Amino acid sequence: MGKSYSVAVIGAGQIVNVHLEAIRQSERSRLTAIVDLMESRAEDLAAEFGAKAYTDYREMVLNEKPDIVIINLPHYLHKSTAIWCAEQGCHVLLEKPMALNVQECKEINEAAKRNGVLLAVGHMQQFFAEHVAAKEILSSGELGELVMINDRRYGGYFRESRPGWFLDKEKSGGGVIINLGSHSIDRIQWLTGSRIAKVKAILSHYGEQGDVEGSGSLFMETTGGVPVHLSVCGYTGAPANETELLFTKGSLRIRQRAELLMSKGGSYEPISVAKKADPFTEQWKVLLDALEYGSELPISGEYGQSVLAVVEAAYRSHVTGTEQKVELDSCSNSEYQISQSHVQHQK
Ligand SMILES: NC(=O)c1ccc[n+]([C@@H]2O[C@H](COP(=O)([O-])OP(=O)(O)OC[C@H]3O[C@@H](n4cnc5c(N)ncnc54)[C@H](O)[C@@H]3O)[C@@H](O)[C@H]2O)c1
Repeated sequence: MGKSYSVAVIGAGQIVNVHLEAIRQSERSRLTAIVDLMESRAEDLAAEFGAKAYTDYREMVLNEKPDIVIINLPHYLHKSTAIWCAEQGCHVLLEKPMALNVQECKEINEAAKRNGVLLAVGHMQQFFAEHVAAKEILSSGELGELVMINDRRYGGYFRESRPGWFLDKEKSGGGVIINLGSHSIDRIQWLTGSRIAKVKAILSHYGEQGDVEGSGSLFMETTGGVPVHLSVCGYTGAPANETELLFTKGSLRIRQRAELLMSKGGSYEPISVAKKADPFTEQWKVLLDALEYGSELPISGEYGQSVLAVVEAAYRSHVTGTEQKVELDSCSNSEYQISQSHVQHQK
């Protein structure tokens, strides 16, 4: 019988169920507590999943001493909650975006290192079956050299069901770029195995409520010199969520969670994609493997920081009207490898 980690979930809003399901699917984890300021939310889910309900995460951590906490809170609470939990010796899975800005990410990463705990960021799109298959084709060289990427994400951002804090810049850090664009930035960096190095961005602010951007057009360049055009639009219109990679000998089109298409000349043909578990379940497995065996953690805090560095550069570019270099100082490959100290960490 292997190790079984006790897990507590902090924040029981829109995203919580997929995490609860991932914990339930794994023999290596058991849910001990659910925390939410809204007592009834915590209580209802705790009853369903056989856990204890709390409204105060500090009280919960001190009482339950979970091995791992999953933080699903509004973005402005990520830093204080992650640092406090790390200081109590908890490993942390922090929902994306990692925090409001790069400075906050650095403080979170320093706290995790100082306390010898693992810190992961929920960039779960790395576990989409279409992304994994596309990365294999890209790495095989079958389509020649990658020459450009076009990524677009459209969908009604200002819908009524969206919790209000998302539209308040002080609480969310921004609008469609930090929230949805961070997924696109992650998938581009992860697929290409590189980092975004430069960004020129123009944003718009026509939302009917709140003070966050509703669209952004970003022209970027990877550290490998590949140009990337990213369009994110949150206004009313036809939804889209896709990434197109153009090579010297063909092209790939990923329609996220729908299909992968390839062309070697002529129209796109669908590619069969090996089935995978739900991406949150895959993410959870990778995190537990990193904890138990010290295996590579592609969603490390340093990686999460690299995504925020691109978001921050895009906001700077919009304000200054100039291309911005992305702060890359946290991006050496060795830092994506979780150190053995995490494996040996015992509370
Ligand atoms: N990976 C994805 O695809 C994905 C999808 C949706 C959301 N997210 C991310 O998940 C995080 C949470 O988003 P959400 O949509 O679930 O938000 P939400 O507003 O639905 O949920 C947040 C919950 O936190 C609770 N809360 C607020 N302050 C608290 C506190 N101090 N202590 C305890 N509970 C508190 C709220 O009552 C609410 O239930 C964000 O970082 C968001 O960007 C990721």
